[in-house]
Amino acid sequence: MLLDLNDLCVSYATRAGAVHAVEDVRLSIAEDEVVGIAGESGCGKTTLIKSLLRLLPKGARVTADRLAFKDRDLPKMSDRDFRRQIMWNEISLVPQSAQASLNPVYRVGDQIIEAIQEHADMSNAAARARVEELFDLVGLEPRLITTYPHEFSGGMRQRAMIAMALALDPALVIMDEPTTGLDVLVQERIIRKIRELRERSRNSILLITHDISVIAEMSDRIAIMYAGQIMEMAPAIDLFEEPVHPYTLGLKNAFPSIKQIGKPLISIPGSPPSLLGGVTGCPFAERCPFAVEQCLAERPALKEIAPGHVAACHRSDEAKSMRIKAAEKETWQSSKSAA
Ligand SMILES: Nc1ncnc2c1ncn2[C@@H]1O[C@H](COP(=O)(O)OP(=O)(O)OP(=O)(O)O)[C@@H](O)[C@H]1O
Ligand SMILES: [Mg+2]
Repeated sequence: MLLDLNDLCVSYATRAGAVHAVEDVRLSIAEDEVVGIAGESGCGKTTLIKSLLRLLPKGARVTADRLAFKDRDLPKMSDRDFRRQIMWNEISLVPQSAQASLNPVYRVGDQIIEAIQEHADMSNAAARARVEELFDLVGLEPRLITTYPHEFSGGMRQRAMIAMALALDPALVIMDEPTTGLDVLVQERIIRKIRELRERSRNSILLITHDISVIAEMSDRIAIMYAGQIMEMAPAIDLFEEPVHPYTLGLKNAFPSIKQIGKPLISIPGSPPSLLGGVTGCPFAERCPFAVEQCLAERPALKEIAPGHVAACHRSDEAKSMRIKAAEKETWQSSKSAA
């Protein structure tokens, strides 16, 4: 395992109390693997990766039973060692709203050169050549390295940020919403580019998105997150062909699928629970058309459904019938939260 974490919890201390943004997350990423994490806004995706990369604000509390990268116990590493040995060299990040994180007063190429030289011993000429090579790799003309961010479109800036994340050939590249905010055609081009890059190198990728259809085509495994918890995780094919958790069923209904163009979208009524003070029972119960009393009272544990396929639902045995009912709009309209 490249990355292996168990029982990861993150909470933010706020004036109103602790916000439990990530709860008991168990996740691993193997070498040469693409793992996708999907879930609605506010479910803790960014918090999860920030906790791995030590990017959380002061006042955030992280606990984990295990948090290891290449079998190294990350919490035991000093910040200095982490910055020098892990960040960028081993794990890199394309941050959420990456397009906005380029400094407008410096040339794009210079910003990437500087980032490379901060983490690796490389001459100016070598770093420059590397950036040209990276631009070419992500589909930007190498001559563009001398231009300023405002001369780039949103999609081009996103490519530049992906180039930056690949600069030191890290074992794991984390991309937080790499296509959000771009128009559909540009999104498709970026996704195609990421797939191409994957075919050429063996970096693992952790891809974060709220749009489940974006990761459908590229991930080996997919985790569905809700209210800070993993609701379901499975090989991508299983998750799409035999989803179990009602939240997964709802998410699939809510986003356009490439395979079923024109299928009417059904949104999940209601909104995620407040994470202040934590949630009892299944966090999705309030919005779930299949919820029974047990769901409100008792938090379901992740249970193995098939090899490599886990789901946290008390009614997982009834997945087949839930799948059929979930495809009908009325099912979601009649749920309690729709009233
Ligand atoms: N600095 C903070 N202080 C307090 N609460 C925070 C802080 N940052 C995030 N949160 C809360 O933690 C929860 C998870 O937020 P996070 O940004 O990780 O979600 P996300 O899944 O990345 O959402 P999005 O899809 O909008 O990016 C939310 O309830 C959010 O309001
Ligand atoms: Mg986020």
